Amino acid sequence: MSDDSQLLLSIAILGGTGKEGKGLAYRWAMAGYSVHIGSRDSAKAQTAAKELMELLEGEALVDGMTNIEAAQKSNIVVLTVPYSAHKDTLESVKSYLKGKLFVDVTVPLVPPKVSTVRMPAAGSAAQEAQQILGEDVQVCAAFQNISHEHLLDDSEVACDVLVTGTSKEARAEVIKLVQAAGLIGWDAGPLENSVVVEGLTSVLIGINKKYGSTHAGIKITGANHSVD
Ligand SMILES: NC(=O)c1ccc[n+]([C@@H]2O[C@H](COP(=O)([O-])OP(=O)(O)OC[C@H]3O[C@@H](n4cnc5c(N)ncnc54)[C@H](OP(=O)(O)O)[C@@H]3O)[C@@H](O)[C@H]2O)c1
Repeated sequence: MSDDSQLLLSIAILGGTGKEGKGLAYRWAMAGYSVHIGSRDSAKAQTAAKELMELLEGEALVDGMTNIEAAQKSNIVVLTVPYSAHKDTLESVKSYLKGKLFVDVTVPLVPPKVSTVRMPAAGSAAQEAQQILGEDVQVCAAFQNISHEHLLDDSEVACDVLVTGTSKEARAEVIKLVQAAGLIGWDAGPLENSVVVEGLTSVLIGINKKYGSTHAGIKITGANHSVD
């Protein structure tokens, strides 16, 4: 369990019924955060929350509700939906995010060629989120290179997380979330740099296809993480 300051924080995961969101919810709930699973359908969110509570043997704070309710209730809002749902989901919660920290996990994949990098006109999904949400929201992007296969259990993850975002302070907050999830997070600079991180996911998907793996990731070498 984490320190008391973390217990005061709640995290909304919009689309938290899905593969990536559920894995992140599991890890943050285990670290002592109160997690609100969001969905278009509150019953679906409640079912996902119940499954997580069973996995965590009741020793956690996870509940399920609509995406809008989750965004309203939380200080930190994380988005884990397919890119096709990115804009509509953001528009639906936009008015509840002012002054909050928003973390975009979305990768702008364009099926069926998901191993080819395709970026939106804004530059990246995260930059598009910033355009939609406006300057009152601290926008960061993270976890785009972490396969969900790593997340829904307690094992150590040998992949790092590159964190980009609108301010150094916001990135530092997200790095704390990365650490709470049991991973190493690196300050990868301004939100513009999310172009590279999101694009890298297509490269990793291509590597998975070519080499018969399912969860290729990246690791930063040659730098000392304890130096800030
Ligand atoms: N899966 C991974 O390993 C992985 C790794 C890194 C990054 N990502 C990125 O994380 C995001 C989520 O990935 P995922 O694999 O978790 O996706 P997913 O399981 O396919 O979907 C996540 C959730 O998004 C919601 N959703 C789906 N279609 C929607 C629509 N048309 N409109 C609104 N909501 C919709 C659903 O929630 P409700 O039906 O409950 O509303 C669904 O449970 C993607 O952008 C992906 O690229 C995924």
